[in-house]
Amino acid sequence: MRILAVSVTIAALLAALAGDREPRYLSPSELAVDPSGRLLYVAAETANAVLVLDAASGAVLRRIALPDPPGGLCLAPDGATLYVTGAAPKGKVFEIEAASGRIVRALAAGHTPVAPRLSPDGGTLYVLNRFDNSVAVIELPDGAQTGLIPVPREPVDAALTPDGRWLVVANLLPVGPADGDFVAARVSVIDTQSKRVARHISLPNGSTGVRGVTVSPDGRYAYAVHIQAHFQLVTIQLDRGWMNTNALSIIDPAAQALLYTVVLDEKTLGAANPWDVAVTADGRSLVVSHAGTHELSVIDREALHARIAGKPNPYREAARRSAFQTSLPPPDFRLVEGIRRRVKLTGLGPRGLALAGGKAYAAEYFSESVGVVDLAASGSPQVSSIELASSREWTTERRGEFLFHDASRSYQQWQSCATCHPSQARVDGLNWDLLNDGTGNAKSTKSLLMSHETPPAMLSGVRERAEVAVRAGFRVILFSPRREEEAAAVDAWLKSLRPVPSPFLVNGKLSPAAERGRRVFEKAGCASCHPPPYYTDQKQHDVGTGAGVDAGRKYDTPTLIEVWRTGPYLCDGRAATIRDVLTVHNPEDRHGVTSKLSEQEIRDLEEFVLSL
Ligand code: HEC
Ligand code: HEC
Repeated sequence: MRILAVSVTIAALLAALAGDREPRYLSPSELAVDPSGRLLYVAAETANAVLVLDAASGAVLRRIALPDPPGGLCLAPDGATLYVTGAAPKGKVFEIEAASGRIVRALAAGHTPVAPRLSPDGGTLYVLNRFDNSVAVIELPDGAQTGLIPVPREPVDAALTPDGRWLVVANLLPVGPADGDFVAARVSVIDTQSKRVARHISLPNGSTGVRGVTVSPDGRYAYAVHIQAHFQLVTIQLDRGWMNTNALSIIDPAAQALLYTVVLDEKTLGAANPWDVAVTADGRSLVVSHAGTHELSVIDREALHARIAGKPNPYREAARRSAFQTSLPPPDFRLVEGIRRRVKLTGLGPRGLALAGGKAYAAEYFSESVGVVDLAASGSPQVSSIELASSREWTTERRGEFLFHDASRSYQQWQSCATCHPSQARVDGLNWDLLNDGTGNAKSTKSLLMSHETPPAMLSGVRERAEVAVRAGFRVILFSPRREEEAAAVDAWLKSLRPVPSPFLVNGKLSPAAERGRRVFEKAGCASCHPPPYYTDQKQHDVGTGAGVDAGRKYDTPTLIEVWRTGPYLCDGRAATIRDVLTVHNPEDRHGVTSKLSEQEIRDLEEFVLSL
């Protein structure tokens, strides 16, 4: 692996200077605690910095400036070295001397590396290249990359068993078509000895948004938190988790088996958007952060295991039994009843967790603080927040970002917009039967990038503009209408989103294959409906994709920008890949003239489309 050491300090300095000029939010997102439990390291995602805090006093001891947004962090077992991933298209891992905050070197990584994890002996570093869908194995101290392991889709969190044998990886989104009966995200278990995937374990049907994973201190169990969607049902209501529940799946890493899935909501009160999960060192408590409802769940772990002991996982049974769409079991809200405390935080938008000294710390993204919960206290625990920045008014955009991620004002707190549009308003990989265009015709969730620039909205174009869809979303999906100024703030935030450069670009440019593909794009007639700059003519066409009640229906030409990360494709998510859009699902050349293209041309065309 190449070492990009020298220029880093200068870049960091420049970044720090830039940071001084334009006021930026810190957006704490991930935490690490040093082995003594005295120091907290806080990844400030939008400030390109890591803050070092005195855990007891809350004082900020140091600010470590980085050239890139910190995508995740971890400490060497002795606490002397800090590893932070620079989550940029040309990703890096910064090795930092913890005592001084000095960046010692930067190791090259893939596209948007996150969640660095160190083997227990401190000799091997694992890094998730989120948009390359891979896990890099880096040997220390020399920094050589000795393995690159493919995983299904957008790995975002990982945990090692204490013996270092198994690396459990949370993949955010399902892969494959969305029009089938079984659609689920997967957790990958990697055997660190052979550096191979032992198994990609499917979570239950409808699982998506797998944000966090952890392993118990004895290494016997891994816990993953995710959304458990009921995408088979028409979206008429939210009661009893009708659309989405919020869940914890229990996995046996050594056997690579899903043991059980537990719903974290209550019958009339959702616990939305679980983000991270951790187990206390004594193994007694499981702690989950709920980013949408601004709280922690503190679960009696032993009591939970006692409740599910010997019971077959109802979700797995249902999936095995039949392919009928209604085969999901009704959510069992009793599993955590009486053995879980819901702890309301004083800050907003808790994401990453760290546990130390009988306390849980939560990175409170929107209130720019670190939440502190005393876990030892019986009854209602003491809750406070360490403020990291002097409080200031949110800009309109920031307010919109918050409202999009907030579930606390949705009906019974079941979900936020980010439940179905995670990762800065992109896709969940599922189909939903929304009411805007009738029923019995589920549609693939759309990314909201460029929605406002490319009216009309929705696949069928039924909403004149994205603004209308935003207001309808609050009214008929969250069942909680918003004041006009709040809806306008969400518009402002969505408009501010920028595409992430495609992992198919080479040094920011089209590869030779994609260059060739650009010419095929013209030749096959794609550009007539998908003209640049947005790659849509904003008109409706029947390209032969309507089926069932939608037979012969015209669809709004979607933008192709960032299509590399928004699969599955077409109105009902029937196409897992761009290749499938161009081949299997275009038998009569109604969607561009592709039948006469050579194999090479198809590959080049796919490469071009994936580079946009
Ligand atoms: C239950 C899942 C779900 C939730 C929750 C959800 N959406 Fe959507 N959203 C979808 C689906 C599915 C589509 C595409 C449907 C279609 O095209 O017919 C969509 C489409 C949209 C579009 C149109 C995009 C375009 O360019 O055509 C906008 C805008 C939008 N959603 C905004 C929101 C907002 C704002 C919220 C929160 C108030 C929200 N959504 C909550 C599933 C959801
Ligand atoms: C006649 C207009 C038209 C032509 C020509 C056309 N498209 Fe499309 N394209 C559409 C429409 C309309 C859709 C939406 C169809 C649907 O959702 O079922 C679409 C969807 C797509 C999608 C799926 C995007 C997504 O997010 O689901 C891709 C990829 C795509 N087109 C690429 C191409 C390529 C490559 C060509 C050339 C071979 C092409 N299109 C030719 C109109 C066109």
